[in-house]
Amino acid sequence: MIEPPVMDETTARTWIDVDLGILAGNVRALRQRLPDSCGLLMVVKADAYGHGIEPAARAARAAGVWGFAVATLDEAARLREAGFGEPVVCLMPLLPGEAARVLDLQVVPAITALEQAEAFDAAARKTGRTMDVHADVDTGMGRTGAWDRDAVDLITRVAKLPGLRVAGIFTHFASADEAGRGPTERQLDRFDAVLAELEARGVRVGCLHAANSAAALRFARASRLGARGGEPPRVLVRPGIAVYGAAGDIAPDDDAGRWRAAEGPGPPPFEPALSWHARVLAVKELAPGDAVSYHGSYVARAPERIALLGVGYADGWPLALSNRGRVLLRGTFAPIRGAVCMDLTMVDATPFPDLRAGEVATLIGRQGDVGQSAEDVAADAGGIAYSILTGIGRRVRRNVLEEDR
Ligand SMILES: Cc1ncc(COP(=O)(O)O)c(C=O)c1O
Repeated sequence: MIEPPVMDETTARTWIDVDLGILAGNVRALRQRLPDSCGLLMVVKADAYGHGIEPAARAARAAGVWGFAVATLDEAARLREAGFGEPVVCLMPLLPGEAARVLDLQVVPAITALEQAEAFDAAARKTGRTMDVHADVDTGMGRTGAWDRDAVDLITRVAKLPGLRVAGIFTHFASADEAGRGPTERQLDRFDAVLAELEARGVRVGCLHAANSAAALRFARASRLGARGGEPPRVLVRPGIAVYGAAGDIAPDDDAGRWRAAEGPGPPPFEPALSWHARVLAVKELAPGDAVSYHGSYVARAPERIALLGVGYADGWPLALSNRGRVLLRGTFAPIRGAVCMDLTMVDATPFPDLRAGEVATLIGRQGDVGQSAEDVAADAGGIAYSILTGIGRRVRRNVLEEDR
């Protein structure tokens, strides 16, 4: 029998709580582990990994960041509209047609190719302004940026364009979160070689940044870039996932789970800033042989009870969790039964004969002593914490818990 759902105006079917105090604490914890001279270029792309770009940026600013990194100009615009005056770097390649908006928003674009730089130069000169750019060097990521073998020539030419100022140079690591250190050390070597050659040619490069969360924690070199005596350059790190508290998949340095303290500062006690919940909409009894959800992939073997939760794949709760994942219900794990639907997820509620519509299940977060992280959900869904967090849908209500509440 389906119980009537008890919902009212103030009762969301699914929501996230974003705790700004925790997020700010993670920023401070990271800063404490880095050299004082090292600035944070906090990555707030994809709506701050699903946390909400404006509140996340606000909390991070209060905890001390140099600037913000985004992937699109729409994200940059949201920061500017919310009154953020800090430097905003757009890490992903922008199209020549976006130059006017780059200037309007005073965004620092990443430069990957000469044609792109020339288009931005022309647009900047037309308005009589100088555009700050950061040159992107591909040292082994195989994605954006000029290959390190071409980068010195590109940056030398870009530095001569009158409308542009090379205010920074950066690279991005492909494998800093993996146990093996070799690939990241090689990328750092290539980056260092590019910087040394630019210095030899007398090209001034502004600030330098390379480290994502994993590299900031595991590779001390990555926060001391370009230091060759004399005045050290301004070094930034570009953390995302650690600040959001979902960096549990960063590999330690040995099989015993230890971190090489001498190499990098190791993992601070980051805490997840986000929790995700859904309400029980109805409870239903199953008789032996009853099948659950599309295509009947779960069939009850005994009298059982399922709770219907108000969350589905349209909310970003992965379809891949069908018959695999679990949620927290009354402080214990309740396995998912049958296929996750667009708006609903069925979970086992057999241990709770008095369960009623309106009770809260936790998808990410804690209930008492038991917890489930975004990394755990990702492991069940065959994804990564990043894809789980950034996939949380627009239909999910976002509650912001202020730092000073
Ligand atoms: C270029 C670049 N830098 C930094 C980051 C932040 O990485 P993480 O979240 O692993 O710290 C990302 C994330 O996707 C990125 O694309």
